[in-house]
Amino acid sequence: MERLPGFRDFYPEPIPHRDVWSADARQYVFDRWRATARRYGFREYDGPPLEPLELYTAKSGQEIVHQLYNFMDKGERAVALRPEMTPTLARMVAAHERNYKKPIKWFAIPQLFRYERQQKGRLREHFQFNADIVGEPDVAADAELIALLIDALRAFGLTAGDFVIRLSSRQAWQEFFSRKCHDHTQAYEFYQIIDKLDREEREQTEQKLAALGFSLEEVMKFIGGGEPTPELNAILANLAARGLREFVNVDYQVIRGLAYYTGTVFEAFDRKGEFRALAGGGRYDNLVKLISGDKVNLPALGFGMGDVVLLELLNARGLLPPFDGGLDAFCLIEDEGLRTESLRLIHALRSGGLAVDYSLTPAKPDKQFKRAQELKAARTVRLERSETGEVQARIKDLRTREERAVPPEEAAGWLRAPAKS
Ligand code: HAM
Repeated sequence: MERLPGFRDFYPEPIPHRDVWSADARQYVFDRWRATARRYGFREYDGPPLEPLELYTAKSGQEIVHQLYNFMDKGERAVALRPEMTPTLARMVAAHERNYKKPIKWFAIPQLFRYERQQKGRLREHFQFNADIVGEPDVAADAELIALLIDALRAFGLTAGDFVIRLSSRQAWQEFFSRKCHDHTQAYEFYQIIDKLDREEREQTEQKLAALGFSLEEVMKFIGGGEPTPELNAILANLAARGLREFVNVDYQVIRGLAYYTGTVFEAFDRKGEFRALAGGGRYDNLVKLISGDKVNLPALGFGMGDVVLLELLNARGLLPPFDGGLDAFCLIEDEGLRTESLRLIHALRSGGLAVDYSLTPAKPDKQFKRAQELKAARTVRLERSETGEVQARIKDLRTREERAVPPEEAAGWLRAPAKS
């Protein structure tokens, strides 16, 4: 039985096949995302992976709706697996915003599902680090969020030479659009054409633009002009104060595919342009109002960073550390007469926070030692009876081969000391 296309199996390292993903690398990524979000004062939230279909159909835009995994459940409800987190966040915030002081700064790491054509950087399931600020209209929030995005990427050892944030403004595009076209119902169609400039055939783009009364030439001229709006200048100044200016370029080619963005928009890309977008986000000041049926009106902004492209980039740049089981000790039970005492020791060590493993059933000493090495244990610990009949713990550093015998109750202290490298 094979897994579905576009879905992943995550195995502990060492990876048994190039077609599967590393559970250790995934955990490493989650840990760094979490740690960075917390440094910025963001709190973690989560929502259900299955939502009413309606949450997405009116709000996210056609592109994502075409990619939905949706079905009727046994209670005749039209439901969908979440393709993104933002509508869930808007729903959750609208329901209980009074319980929280503004601005609300929240993050989540949901698994998301999109029925996309499987390709490099795009699968049918991915994990996405979402960070959003709700209730703050000032562009200081935009800068804060972009700083978090930059630091979340730097947390993996990526530098300004590796990635860039392309900063743009939906508002600037909206003004450009309104100068020629007064039918606002067509604005989103226009944004989608701009969003696909890179990926679609030139002729097709020209035709689509012409249908709305625009030429590709004037669009390219607007992108090339690229004068930052006052809002974008304020964001750039804020980031410069933090020493983060070199990570950001104003680039009007970015407009974002999702329908709900209203102001600043941005995407993170690798500098060489080898990979799909690492992250994308922006301001969506009307979504909470829309989702709450006009009951709650709060400005908001956020971004999503996927694990797929990030891991591709970290692999390509050799920025993933080696992962092993991280065992502090392997307990060798060579004298079966000491199994009971050994189990007591193992339990005491584990209760003290150490990662300890051992052979569940009797095994030859050399087999046990081999297992300790395979599991990359830092040390072995073995109980033995001395000539005077006392039980002592013999600890061996597997790298330096240094050995020492200590009373069993002191074993934890010795095992906790950093192993020599
Ligand atoms: P998005 O641009 O659709 O935005 O996705 C954000 C990131 O998730 C992408 O840049 C990419 O790294 C990753 N991603 C998206 N789709 C896939 C896929 N099929 N396979 C692998 N990775 C993928 C949003 O989802 C917005 N809701 C982000 C946001 C949060 N905006 C405001 N707050």
